[in-house]
Amino acid sequence: MALNLDAVGKPFAPLTKDYTWKDVVLYALGVGAGFSDLDYCYEKDLKVIPSFSIASIFDILMQIGLEANVNLAGVLHGEQELIFHNPIPVEGSMTTQGKITHIYDKGEGRGALVVGESDTFHANGQKLFTSICTIFGRLDGGFGGQNAPKTEVIFPDREPDFTVAAAPSPDQPLIYRLSGDVFSLHVDPEFAKMSGFQKPIMHGLCTHGFACRALVDTLIPGEPELARRMACRFSKTLYPGVPVKTLIWKTEDGKALWRVVNTENGEIVIDNGIFEYGPIPKREIRYDGRVAIVTGAGAGLGRAYALELARRGAKVVVNDLGGARDGSGDGSAAPADQVVSDIKAAGGEAVASYDNVATAEGGEAIVKTALDAFGSVDILINNAGILRDKSFVKMEPENWHSVLDVHLNGAYHVTRPAFEVMKTKGYGRIVMTTSAAGLYGNFGQTNYTAAKLALVGFMNTLKIEGKKYDIKVNTIAPVAASRLTEDILPPDLFDKLKPEFVTPMTLFLCAEDCPVTGNIYNVGMGFYNRAAFVTGPGAVLTDGAQIPEVESVLESLDKVATLKDGKEYFELNEQVGDIMAAFAPKASDDDGAGEAGRPSVADIFEALGKSFQADAAAGVDVVFQYSISGEGGGDWYTAIKDQACTVAAGTHAKPSCTLKMAAPDFIAMMSGSLPAMQAFSSGKLVIEGDIMKSQLIEKLFKR
Ligand code: NAI
Repeated sequence: MALNLDAVGKPFAPLTKDYTWKDVVLYALGVGAGFSDLDYCYEKDLKVIPSFSIASIFDILMQIGLEANVNLAGVLHGEQELIFHNPIPVEGSMTTQGKITHIYDKGEGRGALVVGESDTFHANGQKLFTSICTIFGRLDGGFGGQNAPKTEVIFPDREPDFTVAAAPSPDQPLIYRLSGDVFSLHVDPEFAKMSGFQKPIMHGLCTHGFACRALVDTLIPGEPELARRMACRFSKTLYPGVPVKTLIWKTEDGKALWRVVNTENGEIVIDNGIFEYGPIPKREIRYDGRVAIVTGAGAGLGRAYALELARRGAKVVVNDLGGARDGSGDGSAAPADQVVSDIKAAGGEAVASYDNVATAEGGEAIVKTALDAFGSVDILINNAGILRDKSFVKMEPENWHSVLDVHLNGAYHVTRPAFEVMKTKGYGRIVMTTSAAGLYGNFGQTNYTAAKLALVGFMNTLKIEGKKYDIKVNTIAPVAASRLTEDILPPDLFDKLKPEFVTPMTLFLCAEDCPVTGNIYNVGMGFYNRAAFVTGPGAVLTDGAQIPEVESVLESLDKVATLKDGKEYFELNEQVGDIMAAFAPKASDDDGAGEAGRPSVADIFEALGKSFQADAAAGVDVVFQYSISGEGGGDWYTAIKDQACTVAAGTHAKPSCTLKMAAPDFIAMMSGSLPAMQAFSSGKLVIEGDIMKSQLIEKLFKR
């Protein structure tokens, strides 16, 4: 089975995982912590062992193997590097985004290396760690690719400065596997024997966890948050119960080299270890090489954004029509010119645009200015704004339309051509400007509030359309002193509400590192908070067929209206999904076979012939035997020859390989909710015979 070389550079679907302090403690126990290091085992003042990071995103390793189509029969975890950006909180939710960065060829018979890199963010917005994981595909070499560049770790020619002995228990893998890696090799004696081992072996990452504890205890005792980087190569397998030693050489301030040695036979189990530690370096957020458009940047908030973006390296298009507060008048070049000259005087790069966002031509011209002057658009802040306040009955169409034209249509006119550029380049950061008036209401501003909240709706869809292209779209709701607010805010408050207070949040939303999309933030003075649409859990008023009476709404209003235990939705489908789920039959157990709405095993085999891909079967002569246990199970086989497929119940005399699974797992795998790689590595799918041929299944049958 060929490796999928096209997988390089394509992002995986983000992986989100919720965890609690119990997961943190379970991991610590799995890597040998106990009463001697209670900091990692007791929820009071709990600390997280840094290597918990890789255990918590274990599924990413599987993803890398799966996407690259590595031959399962020869897959090994080769190397692991972790870069720690921020301390790992003891609970919450982590989202990991990653991709395969390289596939190297070591040559025919020598294997291939698949390198996957991922970044993991906490729900609190902080980037926690980067993982660079190398998977060794023993059976995948010789495809004519380049070999990996040589890397060497040179250990000092002296005895280690520290030696930390540890005695993993003979039962260690049984605890460690509960942290995520439930591969049968570490638990099932039969499976281990079939794979060429005397008995189940230690997880390499479990030994890695022992090493991490040793490194932290020796070099940064009690301060795991000071770990900055841990890298290593897994070199030999280890049986549970065999004592190990972590050898540590301190080579410079904040850096050590390390290895783990099998104390019984002297073999190096983990080699080429690097451990770096120290305080989190303060990292400046920069926009070097980025091109930013800020509309309405001649004054107030836009001016503050433009100056700071330029100070931090961006090339800025300073757009401003230079009109009056209500948008009237012919406009003036002076405000935009002044900001451009301030930026240049401070050593930055900027160009002025005097175009009107309220027209489609104006929007096109603003983006053209960026392309002509700087060749691209990476950042767009839709900020231009006017006010025409009137109580509703006095709100003539002219005042209504001119405000919508600048705020809402203005954002549309500029965003459309900018989005096109961003989509092509696969990167973009867009900020909409709403207002607390739009989010919550304000007397005399029906035009303004309608436009401002419409921008949130605009963001809600654009964030979805942009997701695939790394275009993040967020919204700011500022409160700041400017000519728009000078007669609204009391003078003492006006003096305190400097626009510069809003800049950090807006610029954060424009940063490459910005982890969020579709969020709204209120900012005024030093106060920052997030606003969101929260939807209550609701109530079912009928069985879904009968129309409820108006009175039933009144009777159930408490339940219908409550926001307690409410949640946010990222998109429409999630909300519609909840409506459907409210009426879905509750699963009685996890057996699943033949349940309403789910196919039975027999249904799947009946449909299998239709999903056969004759085009992919040229020259293929193979028989897959399936042995499905449990209710609804049985024996089936598929025989493929001369680009034709026969599916039949029963056993074939000469199968190429036999796939053994329990019925619910088989149904889950065939309906796509259980990845084949995961099923295999967790022991849910056992393959006997020619494992390599089994990998043809994904190609030969379309889901
Ligand atoms: P500002 O009046 O100081 O700045 C707005 C700028 O937009 C002006 O320089 C103006 O010339 C420019 N502009 C107006 N129409 C334009 C058009 N058609 N084309 C190009 N440029 C145009 O006001 P401020 O306060 O800095 O407002 C910036 C944004 O923040 C606006 O969208 C406003 O609605 C929003 N906002 C401001 C709040 C505040 O407390 N200052 C509160 C909530 C929202």
